[in-house]
Amino acid sequence: MVHLLVSTLLVFLSTAAFGDWQSVQAEQSRKYLLNNIAPPGATSGSVVASPSRSQPDYFYYWVRDGALVMNAVATLYAVATDPAESREYEELLTKFIRFSQANQNTPNPSDSLSSGRLGEPKFQANGDAYQGSWGRPQNDGPALRAITLTRVANFWLDAGRRSDVETSLYAAAMPAATVIKRDLEFVAKNWEKTSYDIWEEISGQHFYTRMVHQRALKEGAALARRMGDTGAADYYEEQLRGPKDPKDNPHPQKKYLLDLVESHWVASKGLIVPTFDRDGGIDYKHSDIDTAVLLAVLHTQGKDGYFQASDSRVLSTMEKHIEAFQNLYSLNHKGYGATVLGRYPEDTYNGYESGKEGNGWFLTTAAVAELHFRAAREIASAPFFKTDQWNASFLKNVGAEPHAVYQGFDKVVLVNKILDRGEAFLARACFHGLPDGHLSEQINRHTGFMQGASDLTWSHASFLTAYWQR
Ligand code: NOJ
Ligand code: NOJ
Repeated sequence: MVHLLVSTLLVFLSTAAFGDWQSVQAEQSRKYLLNNIAPPGATSGSVVASPSRSQPDYFYYWVRDGALVMNAVATLYAVATDPAESREYEELLTKFIRFSQANQNTPNPSDSLSSGRLGEPKFQANGDAYQGSWGRPQNDGPALRAITLTRVANFWLDAGRRSDVETSLYAAAMPAATVIKRDLEFVAKNWEKTSYDIWEEISGQHFYTRMVHQRALKEGAALARRMGDTGAADYYEEQLRGPKDPKDNPHPQKKYLLDLVESHWVASKGLIVPTFDRDGGIDYKHSDIDTAVLLAVLHTQGKDGYFQASDSRVLSTMEKHIEAFQNLYSLNHKGYGATVLGRYPEDTYNGYESGKEGNGWFLTTAAVAELHFRAAREIASAPFFKTDQWNASFLKNVGAEPHAVYQGFDKVVLVNKILDRGEAFLARACFHGLPDGHLSEQINRHTGFMQGASDLTWSHASFLTAYWQR
């Protein structure tokens, strides 16, 4: 309680001094995030999941967390106007690229699995392989890394720096020796296989993993074309929908990646189902509620609007998630405002060990804020927005006046209501942080106090990416 009061006071004081609390948190999150890139004890270019070395020990490099965090750094790089700052971010990215190249060559326990080396999820902070038992492989990692680094490659190409791209990021030569090309080859050859989910607990076919695979292949094909590697571009695109000419398709019944992604939307449930074809790991996730599907949307946004935030399938799914966590956590019954969300209702990981009670997470609550901000932007820039059976509960819960079609002034009012609800989720997540902006992994489901890994790098990245969409 004391620290809630102190934190309210501090937010008030800092509002007076620097502007709104959100910009204060953004500056703190930027700082804590940067602290976790190659801290003492980690090798250059490596990103640790958290500085915590015991209870829990998160002082490791996870391919997924590293890629998501460096994607936030790529945004900082893209918007930096001060040349010194821009050089600082570029250096972090360059070191990350070098580290990733070494990482792709590091023998590890996934070498003996069918998808091979790049599915390994976690390494020592110094880059060495982790030999302990773990949920492996996790095939989202290479796709996430490719998505992040393809952004960097495109920035460099726009700036006329083709040779920088060719030496480290993308060169056509096979066997692939550059980071993006290796990741794309991995995705193109392994998207049909099962792997462990982002929570590292269940092996199967996951919406999240499939979504990052399709985005990596789409962006990768466009980059390959920009680099004159047409054959590879065609091959990456073929994984999405099959061969362009049906005569070239020896298996006309075969389902390709985009069909499989779309199969996760189950209209009778009003939900994007997180996992099909479970073939290992925990077996008690029955609710089909899993915020990994919401993260999938955020981590794969592209110009084609595929599964964008304002998509009715996404809005329907989001409302079911908010409702599930609203009912589940006693913390959400105390009148503090928007709902705190966790990973999934059956979760038993409390940040230290399994078999306990799962909790709210910062990054999943911030994700719901970001979905609102993105949906609001999309609706604002579309000529109109139509009510349908899937988005009706979202419209009701944001407090919109019922209309069959929103346009003109009605649409402006709607957009503002969506932004306000998004703000409430962001505020709600940060309310449980510390006054000086520290964000751990979890938020206790009863008390609201932080628990689990301190200053989880991904928590800070998720605040920043939400904040940037406001
Ligand atoms: C650590 C994993 O990272 C986490 O996702 C999982 O829930 C626990 N181990 C328990 O398996
Ligand atoms: C556990 C989470 O479940 C997983 O997604 C994450 O990669 C690791 N912790 C490291 O933050």
